[in-house]
Amino acid sequence: MSVEEAIRTRRSVRGFLQREVSDDVLRKIFAVAQWSPSNCNVQPWSPHVVSGQTLKRLREALTSAGMRDEPIKPDWPADGVFTGIYRERQVDAARTLYGAMGIERHDAVGRKMAYMRNHAFFDAPHAVFIFMSEPFDTREATDIGMYAQSVMLLLTAYGIASCAQGALGLFPDVVRDHLGVPSNLKLLFGISFGYEDPDVKANTARVGRAEINDVVQFHR
Ligand SMILES: Cc1cc2nc3c(=O)[nH]c(=O)nc-3n(C[C@H](O)[C@H](O)[C@H](O)COP(=O)(O)O)c2cc1C
Repeated sequence: MSVEEAIRTRRSVRGFLQREVSDDVLRKIFAVAQWSPSNCNVQPWSPHVVSGQTLKRLREALTSAGMRDEPIKPDWPADGVFTGIYRERQVDAARTLYGAMGIERHDAVGRKMAYMRNHAFFDAPHAVFIFMSEPFDTREATDIGMYAQSVMLLLTAYGIASCAQGALGLFPDVVRDHLGVPSNLKLLFGISFGYEDPDVKANTARVGRAEINDVVQFHR
């Protein structure tokens, strides 16, 4: 698969089959993703790949934290509000996703239940939680973004679907407790991954992108 094809075909999948990815393929993907670039080659990512019984226990813990409506305690603030064109894009993406799922705009319960699927990893058999060490901040977070895209494109190339999820970073203490991760490692987000379940309605959603002329400024 070419890089262009991988970029164009990767999309967020929100419903997975139970079939696990083999350990060989998992190790290969994370070995290649190591070649992502980073400021001064510090490689600030600290990914924790979770499967099997540990994932099952974490799914239960995160789902019950979400259902109890506990106050979220992310390591970085998650309260930024999108305005203007960014708000329009956000609304458009939500309309596309909830539309595919057949959930009405004012169906608050339906939306909440759909949201809670995040904490269940959309039934994926694997998730990777991406931490970075204190006191890393914005500079290193850009490296993490590149690393995450490498992981998702590699997954795509191996026929494996994924969904990056800020929602998996909302209860970092729960994740650290379950994985035995020290408190100096701060959680940015998680990525659920596995083989796509084609029968899940959410997976029929396709969001678009802004036109290049509205985004990119070419200078010479
Ligand atoms: C860092 C990051 C966090 C995201 N968080 C969530 C999330 O919590 N839940 C979710 O369903 N999708 C999440 N997404 C997926 C985006 O909604 C999705 O990438 C965007 O709508 C574009 O759609 P596409 O990935 O299908 O191209 C996240 C994506 C990124 C990159």
